[in-house]
Amino acid sequence: MSLKLGEEAPNFDAETTEGKINFHEWLGNSWGVLFSHPKDFTPVCTTELGYTAKLKPEFDKRGVKVLGLSVDPVSDHNEWIKDIEETQGQKVNFPMIGDENKKVAELYGMIHPQSLDSLTVRSVFIIGPDKKIKLTLTYPASTGRNFDEIIRVIDSLQLTANYQVSTPVNWKDGEDVVISPAIADEDAKTKFPKGFKTLKPYLRLTPQPNK
Ligand code: BEZ
Repeated sequence: MSLKLGEEAPNFDAETTEGKINFHEWLGNSWGVLFSHPKDFTPVCTTELGYTAKLKPEFDKRGVKVLGLSVDPVSDHNEWIKDIEETQGQKVNFPMIGDENKKVAELYGMIHPQSLDSLTVRSVFIIGPDKKIKLTLTYPASTGRNFDEIIRVIDSLQLTANYQVSTPVNWKDGEDVVISPAIADEDAKTKFPKGFKTLKPYLRLTPQPNK
C-alpha cells in the first residue's frame, strides 16, 4: 500500500550520519523533506545530494528539515560524503539514514521492484508540522530530480496552508494566486484587500496575500 496525501507520515527510529534519530521527535514542529536515492557512489545521486546541501539556506528560511536515505550503511554514506564535497564543492549538511535492513524504505514504499529491483527509487515525501504527508514524488533512478521545484512546491504548500488560495500553473513565490471558488465575491473583498481580477466566476486572481 502506498502512502497517500493527508495520511500521517509513519514514525521510525533510524541510524543516520548524525546519530540515531526518532523521526517524529527529530522533526519537532518543523516541515520535513524525506527523500531516498538509489545507491551511494553513483553519479546522479552524487549531484542530487550536493545540490540539496547547497539549498540548505533556502530550506532553513522556510523552516524545513531535510533527511536523506538509501539502503546503504551509514559507514558508506560517510565515505561517499567526502566524494560529494570534492566533486560538488559542497559538504553534505543534513543527516542521511543508513537503511541497509530496508526498514524505512519498506515503510514508505520506496522500493519499486519492477523499476529498480531491491534499491530505493528517487522518492520524496514532504511532511507538514502536523506530521501529515503533503506531497509525494517518485522518479526513476535514471532521472535526477529538480530540487528547485521542491523549494517551489514548499512555498505553495506553506502559502496554501495559511490562506484560502491555490497556486496556478508554474506559479513562483511572489506571483498572483487563485482565490478558492468556495469564497463568495463579497467575502473575497474583505479577505483579499489587495483586490482581485475575475476572469471567470471560478477563476479569480489576487496578489499573493503574504507579500
Ligand atoms: C545514479 O545515481 O546515477 C544511479 C543510481 C542507481 C542506478 C542508476 C543510476
